[in-house]
Order: sequence, then C-alpha cells, then structure tokens
Amino acid sequence: MITVPNAYISGTGFYVPPKVVTNDDLKTVYGIDTSDEWIRQRTGIEERHFAEEGVSTSDLAVPACEEAIRNAGVDKKDIDMILLATLSPDQCFPGTGIYLQKKLGFCELGHFVPAMDIRNQCSGFLYGLGTATSMIKSGACKNILLVGAETHSAAIDLSTKGRDVCSLFGDGAGAVVVSATEEDRGVRGWYLGADGRFSDALHMVIWEIRHRPYVPQDAQGNGIVAAGSMWPTMQGKVVFKHAVERMIGVLMQAFQDQKITIEDVDLFMFHQANLRINQYIQKQIGVPEEKCVNNIQRYGNTTAATLPSLMHEALQDGRLKRGMKVVLVAFGSGFTWGASVIDW
Ligand code: ACO
Repeated sequence: MITVPNAYISGTGFYVPPKVVTNDDLKTVYGIDTSDEWIRQRTGIEERHFAEEGVSTSDLAVPACEEAIRNAGVDKKDIDMILLATLSPDQCFPGTGIYLQKKLGFCELGHFVPAMDIRNQCSGFLYGLGTATSMIKSGACKNILLVGAETHSAAIDLSTKGRDVCSLFGDGAGAVVVSATEEDRGVRGWYLGADGRFSDALHMVIWEIRHRPYVPQDAQGNGIVAAGSMWPTMQGKVVFKHAVERMIGVLMQAFQDQKITIEDVDLFMFHQANLRINQYIQKQIGVPEEKCVNNIQRYGNTTAATLPSLMHEALQDGRLKRGMKVVLVAFGSGFTWGASVIDW
C-alpha cells in the first residue's frame, strides 16, 4: 500500500532589519502629515522596521532562512526546493529565490535545487504553503524552504501623498521548513482564491509591457518611470470591505471541509494588514481574543512575511505548542486570499 506523507512545519525563522520607525518618526523624520493617533486608531500599528539603503529582499530572507533550517534540525543539503513569496522582489528577473539560493551558500555546496518565486502579495505565504504541501505529499520533496520576505520601505511613497499606504507597511522576512512526516500531524488543508476584477484596487504599475517602450522615455531616449506608476495605490475602503468578506468566506470553507468549529481551534493567525480588519472579523464570527496572535503593532504589514513571523513568535513565547490546531488566514492585493488548517 502506498502511504502519502503528511507535510508539517519542522522549523521557523524570522528577521527584521534593525531600524525601527515609529508613527511619530513618519511625521518628524519623513515629514509626512500624519499622527500616531490616526495610524494607531485606524490600524493598530505603532511602529515598523525599515531596511537601510543597499539591503534587498533576498538579504532579509537569509537570516530568517538560516534560523528556520537550524530550528528544523536539517542541513542545507537536505532542502529539496526553495519557494520565495514577495511583492518586493530584488529585481524584475530572475526571481528573488535565485538570489537567495546563492546567498544561502547552496551553490558552494553544489546544491542546485529549484528556486521558485510566488507573486501573490499578502496571500503569498499561503499560496506557498499549499504548493509546498502538495510537493511533499506527491513524494517529490522531503524538505522545502518556504520564505516570505519584503522590502516595502524602498517602494512606498514616503510623503503625505502616499500616507494612506506608507503608514501600513514594514520590512521583514519569515521562513519555515515544510517537511515530510509519517506522523499524524501537519497541514490538514489549504484553501485559496483570487478575484481579478479588483486587480487595480491595490497595485503598483511601474511598467506596462503592452506599450512600446514599456516605460516612457525622456528626450534622450532614456527610460523613465512615470510619476503615477512608481508607487503603490490603494482603494483603502474597497480593500477593507473585501478583506472582511473573503477572510470570513475562506474560513467557513476551511471549517466546513475540515468539519471543525471555532471551538476546535486553539490559535488563529490572521494576516496582519490592519488590526481593525481582524477585530471586526473576530467579532462577526465570534473568535475569542485569547485565541488570536497579533504582531502588527510592532512590524506593520510585512505582507508575505507576516504569517511565518506570527508562527515563529508564538513558538518562541510558548503560545504555540505541539498538538494545537492552528488556522491561518490571509487576504491581499489581487484580490487574493487563503486559509490553512494545521495540526501542529
Ligand atoms: N495619516 C493621516 N491621515 C491619513 C492617513 C495617514 N496615514 N492616511 C489617510 N489619511 C487621510 C486621507 O487622506 C483622508 O483625508 P481626506 O478626508 O482629507 O481626504 C482621511 O484620512 C480618510 O481616509 P480614508 O482612506 O477614507 O480612511 P479610512 O478610514 O478608509 O482608513 C485605511 C484608511 C486605514 C488605509 C483603511 O482603508 C484600511 O485599512 N484599508 C485596508 C488596507 C489594507 O488592508 N491594505 C493591505 C492589503 S494587503 C496586500 O496585499 C498588500
């Protein structure tokens, strides 16, 4: 009889760059017309971390991945594949996972494993977890390094014009190793969705490949990024409304498929885009506060890095323990969304 392995998270790692930017700093250091009170009241965010000039997304991913591999108790040579989720890649191409592979020293080891990028914004980690789980269950891989990493600070409009977006985001990287096991534990289900009708509700254009040239040119024929294309734009209220609807919807789908209720779940990890979105959902469906872990207050929205950062911190502070049933849920640009149920 062929037995299908389970996929479980064998190790986690998390890294944020050292520079802390408080809400007050956005006003006093960056000259943005905002206030600690406005940001805190509407989002719950108190501070975030920004990378320095010269630091890229793959650089942030390295320490998180090293820690996850160490905590998983495996060697780099045991990793069969790298999956990297980001909306702030190092460059247009090749994928940031390729740079990460090199920076992790895999090439010196002669360990030329596949490295693949996932471009699903705040849902990127869950798209990656679904992919990793399937690869493990198929028997193709035994250990997959899955990392979400973002350098938002370079690509947000840190001016009053961009204050609705720039006050929300922070830099960081969260990594896990997803491993095969014969034990009765691990990822029980993953649920993903997308609605392309809202692709412009939160996006960053930079170039349009349908045009010749694909970025405008100045009089000398040099490519220039059009002012309105360089920064992300967001229809905040539209995002808020759909985040609530889709996250509740995908949670219900997961509960139904797994035949569980809120009472069966020990810990909920909601994507950290806005604490008010999560509190609203909790109230709507009756998730008790003590079953939720949050860290948006300290990091802002770190997009693909958020869910692994929550897992890592919850393991470190003892809230997440072996045997617990954990539900992850996210929503992001696209729109995209996802959930996963894990027996830890
Ligand atoms: N500081 C001060 N004032 C601000 C700021 C700020 N940081 N940001 C916006 N404002 C102003 C606006 O300019 C506006 O001023 P005006 O009335 O003079 O025009 C006023 O505050 C109200 O703006 P709204 O956008 O209507 O504020 P809202 O109550 O909707 O809150 C917020 C904005 C917090 C962004 C909210 O809409 C939200 O959280 N939306 C969801 C965002 C989200 O989840 N994004 C991440 C998606 S995940 C991903 O994939 C990347």
